[in-house]
Amino acid sequence: MAVVDLAALGESFTRDPYSVYARLRAQGPVHRIRMPEGGAQAWLVVGYEAGRAALADPRLSKDWGKASPALPLGTVSSGPHMLRADPPDHTRLRKLVAREFTARRVEELAPRIQKTADALLDRMLAAPDGRADLVEALSFPLPISVICELLGVPDLDRASFRTWSNEALDATDPAVRKAAAASMARYLTDLVHGKRQHPGDDLLSALMHPAHDDGDRLSAEELIGMAWLLLVAGHETTVNLISNGVLALLTHPDQLAALRADPSLIDGAVEEILRYDGPVETPTYRFTTEPVTIGGTVIPGGGELVLVALADANRDPARFAAPGRFDISRDARGHVAFGHGIHYCLGAPLARLEARIALGTLLGRCPGLALDIHPAAITWRSGMMIRGPRSLPVRLGLIGK
Ligand code: HEM
Repeated sequence: MAVVDLAALGESFTRDPYSVYARLRAQGPVHRIRMPEGGAQAWLVVGYEAGRAALADPRLSKDWGKASPALPLGTVSSGPHMLRADPPDHTRLRKLVAREFTARRVEELAPRIQKTADALLDRMLAAPDGRADLVEALSFPLPISVICELLGVPDLDRASFRTWSNEALDATDPAVRKAAAASMARYLTDLVHGKRQHPGDDLLSALMHPAHDDGDRLSAEELIGMAWLLLVAGHETTVNLISNGVLALLTHPDQLAALRADPSLIDGAVEEILRYDGPVETPTYRFTTEPVTIGGTVIPGGGELVLVALADANRDPARFAAPGRFDISRDARGHVAFGHGIHYCLGAPLARLEARIALGTLLGRCPGLALDIHPAAITWRSGMMIRGPRSLPVRLGLIGK
């Protein structure tokens, strides 16, 4: 099978991966690709049915120990964690965190999220020139402060953490990714150590205690891996849900007007944003443990890297009518923006809550909000995993500014 060189497409692929995926989908569900990240070769699965099936296929392992040694993969995590584990390890790790990361714990965060959003908007609206970068002003600081609150790490060095986290996920050079993950591991080791000395009423402290039913608990290494996963998964993604959502609304004035006229449409709007331009373009790596046939193509066994284009599954016309249309009143349920199967996003209720509060508060406080950049001039995060603008200049539309 010919290799589709996505790396060679450069910026145009980063800006609009959707049309590239759609062209591939027209030819079939499985393609051999060269990735922009490090130039590794991988198998890309496009389309809704094939994508969902691949996400739930136990022959596609999440264990990096199963990866072919020929793959040039730099380490991008700071400890063992469930997104790199298969059952029974995955089952155990997920159970240990799920019993603490409860719906009640998420609901209890709502007033705090609202307060943080209000404070960030106070600051943003005080800008003397009536302009702001929405990523800096709201999309980045809100989720990171929420996840820090949840984990109980209020004094996180956010600037360093953001750099490492961005590098670990986006950098095209595996050496940069590896160095970033190592810096983060050192930092998290200290952080977990500090938490042991001064435990609180937070998730990280709760994760240090043995489970009531079977006495199981995370090892020191697993605790670091879990803290890494929750911090990275909890902010790298939600940032882009807020930014992509604001961008979609500001570039679709009829949808924005409908939401302004009826704020109760917010839940549907958030689902449609997740479907139309979700933060995770292709989720974390999967590796074949045996040959897997999808749509007539055999992906060999032996640790071949498989990527599932969630971005394309959510724009497959076989599943969503007129998929390129942003329509907050459509039934977007069934999208795979949070994945599918045993690795389905653990933080989905929190992400939805944050997006609802962030978008609702922003629109309420800024009746004249508008883009301050031509959409075609926006620069996007590199790499195939995360989809979101690096910055999003807006005009706040305040009278006299
Ligand atoms: C809009 C925001 C978010 C999106 C789009 C998103 C998306 C995803 C996706 C696609 C997966 C599956 C990855 C795969 O199968 O390879 C996943 C897993 C996960 N997410 Fe999220 N996520 C978001 C927010 C969050 C938040 C806020 C948290 C935690 C606070 C979180 C924690 C996790 C964890 C722990 C997993 C691994 C679950 C497992 O392996 O069983 N996510 N997420």
